[in-house]
Amino acid sequence: MTAVRFEHVSKSYPIYSQILTGLKASLLNVPQTIQRFKRHRFMALDDVSFEVGQGESVGVIGSNGSGKSTTLALTAGVLRAQSGRVEVRGRVCPLLELGAGFHPELTGRENILLNGILLGLTRREILARMDEIIAFSELESFLDQPLRTYSSGMYARLGFSVAVHLEPEVFLIDEVLAVGDLRFQAKCREKLEEFKKRRVTIVLVSHSLAEVRGFCERVIWLKDGKVAADGEPGSVIARYEAAMA
Ligand SMILES: Nc1ncnc2c1ncn2[C@@H]1O[C@H](COP(=O)(O)OP(=O)(O)O)[C@@H](O)[C@H]1O
Ligand SMILES: [Mg+2]
Repeated sequence: MTAVRFEHVSKSYPIYSQILTGLKASLLNVPQTIQRFKRHRFMALDDVSFEVGQGESVGVIGSNGSGKSTTLALTAGVLRAQSGRVEVRGRVCPLLELGAGFHPELTGRENILLNGILLGLTRREILARMDEIIAFSELESFLDQPLRTYSSGMYARLGFSVAVHLEPEVFLIDEVLAVGDLRFQAKCREKLEEFKKRRVTIVLVSHSLAEVRGFCERVIWLKDGKVAADGEPGSVIARYEAAMA
């Protein structure tokens, strides 16, 4: 069964410098400016198609700006594609950029609740898991402080702890494993291995090719918003490394 399917997905962003110069022109000639806006869009993803089977662990690699985070945000439903189709089956648990879904003025405890609700759980379900989440995060003594007082490592701990305790069916991880101390990183890896054994679908974006090679069953290489290769980790990573050299 397919957990994630991208069919000819394209996503573009406006190029802001063009919009600013265009703003002046817009006072003079509106239709022409609209044409300019349309032409000056940057294709972050350009006709991307792939499937992730249920229970598969897939790595996404590529240089900065190749479209990895955009791919995960579309999968999580945080962004919408301009064209093509994105289909996802199962509860998605996204661990995207640091602190996404968190509120700095709320306490750690309140943020756990907020995050759980955003991910589709009821208050009762979250409260039932609260102790476990707190224990995993090792942030007990900070939990009643507002999140703005947390370091980036503490944000990451809280985010990871919430995500792994909400029984994800599709788990998305965007470069967050490298945050926090080594011991916590090891704990996160253990949790991921446990998910993999339980056949939770995992899409992992990481700059560590060693990590992707060691963990993923398949790798997708994105290059300039297109799929450059998709297949067995060893060969895709070798091709990527050759291209980078
Ligand atoms: N909100 C945005 N507005 C404008 N451009 C963006 C936005 N988000 C991403 N981009 C651009 O889209 C491209 C792909 O970005 P991203 O998916 O974040 O790449 P990656 O995660 O592989 O580094 C980059 O060139 C980036 O500058
Ligand atoms: Mg990124």
